[in-house]
Amino acid sequence: MLDIKRQYQPLHKELLEAVGHVLQTQQFILGEPVAAFEKSASTQLCVAHALGCSSGTDALWLALAAAGIGEGKAVVTTPFSFFASVSAILRAGATPVLADIDPATFNLSPAAVEAVLEGPQGKAVRALLPVHLYGQCADWAAFARLGKERGLKLIEDAAQAWGAEWDGVKAGGLGDIAAFSFYPTKNLSAAGDAGMVTTNSAELAERARMLRQHGMRRRYYHDELGWNTRMDGFQGAVLGVKLRYIEGWNQLRRTVARRYHALFHAAGLAETGPYPSHGVVLPHEVPGSRHVWHQYVIRSARRDQLREFLTARKIGSEIYYPLPLHMQKALKCLGYAEGSFPEAERAAREVLALPIFPELREDEQQTVVGAIAEFLS
Ligand SMILES: Cc1ncc(COP(=O)(O)O)c(C=O)c1O
Repeated sequence: MLDIKRQYQPLHKELLEAVGHVLQTQQFILGEPVAAFEKSASTQLCVAHALGCSSGTDALWLALAAAGIGEGKAVVTTPFSFFASVSAILRAGATPVLADIDPATFNLSPAAVEAVLEGPQGKAVRALLPVHLYGQCADWAAFARLGKERGLKLIEDAAQAWGAEWDGVKAGGLGDIAAFSFYPTKNLSAAGDAGMVTTNSAELAERARMLRQHGMRRRYYHDELGWNTRMDGFQGAVLGVKLRYIEGWNQLRRTVARRYHALFHAAGLAETGPYPSHGVVLPHEVPGSRHVWHQYVIRSARRDQLREFLTARKIGSEIYYPLPLHMQKALKCLGYAEGSFPEAERAAREVLALPIFPELREDEQQTVVGAIAEFLS
């Protein structure tokens, strides 16, 4: 599914040097390696402020808390994402309100969000938290309009979308504040857990900085109840090295995605979506946006059998995500029944992520598509 060693091998020396520097300077928490990474990251994303923290989950919590989202406030997000998109809202003390997804992109549907805002739960909503799923920005034209019209904060879950763009603006600089994850399988990845908050607002950045260190503005004087969500020096050093390469890696991911498209079309397997019948529905890049292909996700009506077939041929695949968030045991408290979000539930039955990473070779992709052709025949 993903061979991260292929990325590591050519960087081995540079990474050891960067990690060695941390040992030499003994700057294990934040410090110079993290500050340098934050500065380069903000330049690359064209965003005024970037703050390293300990994970994408913590970045989401920090973004929400900095934006003043807490008790008595509701946040609209998607049921089709990683658990943290919703759990961070609960952790911030606020109420998650879910809206269904667009079946073509798997991202939060603006029409569904609008319906929620008009409904009984709409009054308490103070923020929207769209997720840029699989490396493609959510429909920001629509969410920016909704946010402006209704005075809502816009918080991006950009965990999967380093380098993605909407209308020429990079993820991380689209909303009021954004959260990234550098989990080791992400496009830009740490050597452990790490995350980042970005914003163009000096006020939100200052609040996030304070909250990241137990609500301290002055050492040992605590203004608010924050938490320890600091990035460690090793992660800052590793990420600082990888930041120099991420643009090239994202370009390679785009090449790999284009090759999959061409191979599926050449094999006569590609169907026009959004739903599959006999073939597979290929992922869709929204015109005017820049997809960075964190995942290449197809839809198949016989997804589970297809996955078994691929596994038997030692071809990796994954299901992101097999159970929508409103159906998770831990989120029963939200009060949604099965059937509440039919698009998310259908996607959970049909999606299959195929191997994608910058170093994936054309012959390996031919093997993947060849096996899917064999299964479908
Ligand atoms: C969409 C999304 N949000 C949040 C997170 C949480 O990030 P982390 O695993 O770094 O805490 C992830 C990571 O898996 C994610 O994919």
